[in-house]
Amino acid sequence: MLQPMNALADTAALLSSLHDVWDEEAVDELDHALQSAARAIEDGADDELVLAAALHDLAHSPQFDEAAARRHDETARQWLTVRFGERVGWLAGQHVAAKRYLVATDPAYRAGLTATSVLSLDAQGGAAVDADLVAHPWWPDAVRLRRYDDAAKDPSARHEGRAATIDDVLTVAERVIRQGLSG
Ligand SMILES: [Fe+2]
Ligand SMILES: [Fe+2]
Repeated sequence: MLQPMNALADTAALLSSLHDVWDEEAVDELDHALQSAARAIEDGADDELVLAAALHDLAHSPQFDEAAARRHDETARQWLTVRFGERVGWLAGQHVAAKRYLVATDPAYRAGLTATSVLSLDAQGGAAVDADLVAHPWWPDAVRLRRYDDAAKDPSARHEGRAATIDDVLTVAERVIRQGLSG
């Protein structure tokens, strides 16, 4: 069962904990989360997709242990599903699979990956197309999320006002909870 009050408080604490956590070279994980949300919003993504984009890398938070961080896509899926429903969890949970898919199917994609992302690709299993995933009705949105993810590593975006705020993300999260309770 969803626990709305906890979900919002948990999300606020989680986002704050991503400040000064460095997985990428150019942006900390809070900046990465807020830029991902902004790229989703400007693309006209629905609230669930915006929220999944914002929180897809939540497992890099010090709240999680090393094992959870290693399977960071699965950790995100589980954490988000119990708080915001199946689709939010699923979309965030596919961001590694979507990367592997784009490397396999879009020749220009790999060239645009950051050094960190190329390095992690091998550990993630390399290029791959999973036919079951591709046939899933939510898959196109998972690929959209991956594009936001890759565009969310710009060191100047925050200073230039091209990032969301924690409050923006919490407002979206609140709407997702409200829709989940009424739907
Ligand atoms: Fe990731
Ligand atoms: Fe990411």
